[in-house]
Amino acid sequence: MSAGSADTHSWLVYKRLLGYTRPFWIVVLVTLVGMAVEGGALAVFTRLLQPMIDQMFANKNAYYIFWMPIWIVGIFVVRAFGTFASSYGISYIGRNVVQAIQQDVFAAYLRLPAAFFGAEPSGQQISRITYTSEQVASAATDAVKVSVTEGVTVIGMLYVMLSTSAYLTLALLVMIPAIMVITTVVSRRYRQISRRIQGMMGSVTGTVEESVGAHREVRIYGGQAYEADRFEAITQRTRRLNLKVAATTATSSATVQTVAAFALALLVYLGTRPSVISHISPGVFFTVLSAMGGMLPSLKRLTGVQSNIQRGLSAADDLFEVIDLPPEVDRGSHELQRTRADLRFEGVGLVYPRGDFEALRGVDLHCAPGTVTALVGRSGGGKSSLVSLLPRFHEPTTGRIVLDGRDYLDYTLASLRRQIAWVGQNVVLFDDTIANNIAYGELAGASEADIIAAAGAANAMEFIARMPQGIHTQIGQSGNLLSGGQRQRLAIARAILKNAPILILDEATSALDTESERLIQQALLRLMRDRTTLVIAHRLSTIEHADQIAVVEQGCIVERGTHAELIALGGHYATLHRMQFHDQPVEPTVSQAGIPAV
Ligand SMILES: Nc1ncnc2c1ncn2[C@@H]1O[C@H](COP(=O)(O)OP(=O)(O)OP(=O)(O)O)[C@@H](O)[C@H]1O
Ligand SMILES: [Mg+2]
Repeated sequence: MSAGSADTHSWLVYKRLLGYTRPFWIVVLVTLVGMAVEGGALAVFTRLLQPMIDQMFANKNAYYIFWMPIWIVGIFVVRAFGTFASSYGISYIGRNVVQAIQQDVFAAYLRLPAAFFGAEPSGQQISRITYTSEQVASAATDAVKVSVTEGVTVIGMLYVMLSTSAYLTLALLVMIPAIMVITTVVSRRYRQISRRIQGMMGSVTGTVEESVGAHREVRIYGGQAYEADRFEAITQRTRRLNLKVAATTATSSATVQTVAAFALALLVYLGTRPSVISHISPGVFFTVLSAMGGMLPSLKRLTGVQSNIQRGLSAADDLFEVIDLPPEVDRGSHELQRTRADLRFEGVGLVYPRGDFEALRGVDLHCAPGTVTALVGRSGGGKSSLVSLLPRFHEPTTGRIVLDGRDYLDYTLASLRRQIAWVGQNVVLFDDTIANNIAYGELAGASEADIIAAAGAANAMEFIARMPQGIHTQIGQSGNLLSGGQRQRLAIARAILKNAPILILDEATSALDTESERLIQQALLRLMRDRTTLVIAHRLSTIEHADQIAVVEQGCIVERGTHAELIALGGHYATLHRMQFHDQPVEPTVSQAGIPAV
């Protein structure tokens, strides 16, 4: 990107950021006035130096001797109001902007497609809200405050100098191009570094999250040293980048000071030329000198502010990029009321956005209304991928899915998802009560009786009843106060409560003991009666009664039929079945199931 277009881009980002302040334009106005007063008051005070020296001390002018203390107090009281208005005002605006941006980014997370979440470490996604938006705050606050207050100070001081002695002020002209050059170079550098720092903050968050989340694995597998090294490497890189920023700031401040010293020397030199020294009063000389002295820290801060602005802008840029990402594709216009759940996969293929192989190839499958289809097969075969197409987490790369005789892309996303209840391979619970976890999202209005009935059907009341507050017990972050099987039962209860025409069970009972599984199985059987169900199970005993069983291997359906048909066929399924019953201790059920013992 060329420097010119980079600047235009920065300006666009800045303008967009300013847009966030529009709702508080009154506060913005008051704050800007406060800033101007704060900076201007200093210039006014400096302007008083000349009469102070020339009239009070040289001429002993009684008028000035009386009024001067009153003016001084007056100026600084006014300035105090300005300081308060600008400091508080800018924080008020900054915090509001941060909140608005955080909400926008979060809203983006809620509507972005599944592929987005796989493409980026989650630490990055979290730090966007916790860290990056704070960077934006400091751009919108410190940077603006410094720019305006110090800018007004500089302009005020320049005016004081020019009006006091235009001749001496010429000395300053030397500084202006020099300072402009420094500012441009510095801001370029910041822009480069800031982006990298944001990325690093994401890695820091991600690493901490991972290590803390995996604290058991870390201990058991002795991963402490590895984790510590990894963390050190990342924090080291962050520190280096931050120090680069510090080095740039320090260099620019030092350079500005040196330039200023030259200007000062020039001022002294010019002011003491024999032709000049006679008609320049001490008041004039010292006023110009003080004005310049008063301007220096402001100039220094003004060049330093570049770092904040650049950091804020590149932070905002990153956030806006996410906010602008296209949401989940939803071209459907047909509102699906309650589907008959006649489901047909036609030549469905899937290549994951980041994968380079076909996770699914030419899958043809018909799931008639009210039937149970079981998907079995070796791990990694594509079973979860196949069912994840239904709620459109991913769209088929080839082929199509037909629901009630219509391409399922024709339905609106929300109405399609309303037809599906899902118990996934990884149960996800929220840090809330059991009741709120079962009646989650659109189910939130469910009555307590319904929730309890659903929990009962999922065989969950058995452990919920033993809890101190029953269904109103808090279950901790991602349900970590529950056992694996308990979590699974809550997920099943959630699916039961949803009462949707399509039911997807991906290893839904894998964490349960045989008895609980059998109890839930009965509940599920009742549930499956008037809906279309897709069950994925490794434990084949749980799917023997399915209307059809499809064996998925390497993205293809290699066999399909009922349990009896597939056993008779003697292919993949029969082999899987034989192996599973062999791995188990010999029980009478084995021979009852008609499997020949070896
Ligand atoms: N989000 C993803 N991005 C890229 N590849 C993926 C993604 N999810 C799954 N895969 C790949 O797709 C293939 C099928 O995975 P899938 O989860 O569908 O298998 P599965 O049959 O459900 O296995 P299991 O029985 O172990 O759950 C695997 O090779 C996996 O690596
Ligand atoms: Mg799976």
